[in-house]
Parts: sequence; C-alpha cells; structure tokens
Amino acid sequence: MHRIAAIGGDGIGPEIIAAGRTVLDAAGEAFGFDIDWTDFDIGAERYLATGELLTEEDLAELSKFRAIYFGAIGDDRVRPGILEKGILLAIRFHFDQFVNLRPVKLLEGVWTPLADKKPQDIDFVVVRENTEDFYVGIGSRFAGGREQATLDVVRDLYRVKFGLDVETDADEIAYQIGVVTREGSERVIRYAFDLARRRRGRLTSVDKANVLSDVYGLWRDVFSHVAADYPDVATEFNFVDAVTMWFVKNPEWYDVVVTPNMFGDIITDLGAMIQGGLGLAPGGNINPEGTSMFEPIHGSAPKYRGQNVANPLATIWAGSMMLDHLGEHEAAAAVLAGIEQSIAAGVVTRDMGGTATTSEVGEYIASRIRAM
Ligand code: IPM
Ligand code: MG
Repeated sequence: MHRIAAIGGDGIGPEIIAAGRTVLDAAGEAFGFDIDWTDFDIGAERYLATGELLTEEDLAELSKFRAIYFGAIGDDRVRPGILEKGILLAIRFHFDQFVNLRPVKLLEGVWTPLADKKPQDIDFVVVRENTEDFYVGIGSRFAGGREQATLDVVRDLYRVKFGLDVETDADEIAYQIGVVTREGSERVIRYAFDLARRRRGRLTSVDKANVLSDVYGLWRDVFSHVAADYPDVATEFNFVDAVTMWFVKNPEWYDVVVTPNMFGDIITDLGAMIQGGLGLAPGGNINPEGTSMFEPIHGSAPKYRGQNVANPLATIWAGSMMLDHLGEHEAAAAVLAGIEQSIAAGVVTRDMGGTATTSEVGEYIASRIRAM
C-alpha cells in the first residue's frame, strides 16, 4: 500500500492528474499494490476565495506523505509569480526537495524538431539543483523618494564590490543575489554521480563559471572534489551557453547533466522541446529522505481547462517516476511501456496529431498495463 497526496491545482491540472491516477491505479492492480490517494485543495480557486496559498496545516498534512502527485498551477486571474512562488516553489523549498530530476528521452514514434535524431540519440537526464542559486529570493527593487537611503546603500555596495559607479541619473535600481553553498551543491552533485554510475558513466556539469565566478567557482570546486570519489565516471564542464548548442547538435553525447537551479530551469525547456515538446516532459522534485513531488514540467494551460483535450503523457510519465521512487520499479517500467504503446497505436491527443481525449489516453494506457 502506498499513500500518495494529490494536488490537481489549476487549469488542466485536475484533468491530467485524473488521467495519471487511472494509469497508476491500473499499475497497482497489475503489480500487486494499492494506492491510497488523499486530495488536497490547493491552487488559485482557494487562493481567490480565502487568500491562502499554502497553510501551515497543508504543510503538516503533506509532510505525512513520501510522494505528492502534482498537476499544475497558474491562473489568469492571479498576477504571475504569486502561485508559482507561493505554492510550487514553496513546496520544493519547504520539503528541501534538492534534486529536480528531468529525463530528456525521445520515445519511439514521437516527432522531434531535430532532423536525423532518433530515440537512441536523445536519452539523457538533467539533474537540476532545486533549492539554491538565483531561486533563493534575495533581492530588492528601489525607486527614489523615501527609499533613497537604501538606494544609496546599494550604490555604495556596487562601487565597493564591483568598482562600478552607478551614480548616474538612474533613479531605480534592482538586484537579486544567487547563493551556492558547499553542502547544497555537494548533495545534488553526489546524486548525479550516483545516477551516472548506474547509467552510461558520463557526467557533465553545466555552469557559467567564466562570468559568475564566485557562485559557480564554488560549484566547480565541489564538483571536482566529489569527482575524486567516482573515478569510473567520465566528467566534463560545459558552459551553459555552449550547452544550448550541443543539446541541439549532439544530444547523443550526454548521459547525465548536473546544473544549478536557474540554468536547469532554462535548459530543461530546451530538453523538453527536443524530446517532442512540453506535453512529454516529466519531472521529479526529490528529497531522498523526505517528501518528494512529481509533476509535468509544463504549466496549467488555463485556456484548455475543462475541455478534456490536454496531453496527459508528461503527467503519466511523472507518475512512472513516482512509482520508481517508491520502489515499484517493474510497475514504473510498465507505465512507460504503456505510454509507448499509446503512441504506437496513435491513441494520443491532438497536440500529437491524434483525436483522443485526456481521459481516453489514460484509460487506454491503463488497459494496456492490465493486459501486460
Ligand atoms: C519549472 C517552472 C518553475 C521554475 C516556475 C513555474 C516557478 O518553470 O518547474 O521549470 O522556474 O522552476
Ligand atoms: Mg521551467
């Protein structure tokens, strides 16, 4: 028996989570376990009605679960950033989900915009650090007036630290600080090395140490230090700008890629596109010892809400990652195989050229798993 928390969230979130649950329940039947689901009403509707994003009670309840199955958040009626920071990032940070695991794998039968690339060429995993870097939320923005004093302090900081004289006519200034710690980098880099060891034995560190040399200089030192414990893993450093070229030109080079938070955010959208689009890109926010959360990396697509047309494959795949995390390795593999069968049979949503609805895709994959 596995107890799992479900947060459908906003937009298409509840529909894709429902399709995912149909599939995971079928996997449980086929592989001999039960899933006990607990629904959480968290998202824009509740925020608009009560002003609550995540309550202490939500967090206390969620902490009782090893896994959360998360749909999407984001709503046109709420200013961008409120729900994202107040719910999604808040859960990642609160539960210290320091690994953001994002497979970039082209499934058989899926179209990729990269000409001449086949499934065997696109099969790597991005391990994105998930609690530090520019996501820590340290920053501010100042205009003149009564904030002038603070503005002066920031100008002084710039002069002392960077030798920059910002004593210009500019009346407004903003800054945001990235934080990297030895402990924070070491745990995610170790996770990536362990993963590389179980895969093809190559690990690429992606950063921008040639410009952001303090934060990513530390990151590189930690990487090199950890590498000494893994002589069997081949390592390299890539700059993030270069990696955007190589992901397109030579994706077959990559096996496991480890990277700080913000670059991980950016390059995994690129990764999603080469694996066939956001409709096919899953992610796991993992704390190996605590509460982890599995989600599609796409958003809530509010304009398709309630129409039963959204592609549930990224969410179903995230469900497969969740089963794997819970130790149900065979069931996890069966879910992925079921996804491939639905693609082979053309039982896909219209974004992939099919006519199936969200729930039909879920039911079809569930039926394939029961027949396995
Ligand atoms: C992602 C998203 C989030 C992020 C947003 C919605 C806060 O883009 O999961 O990649 O930046 O991490
Ligand atoms: Mg993103």
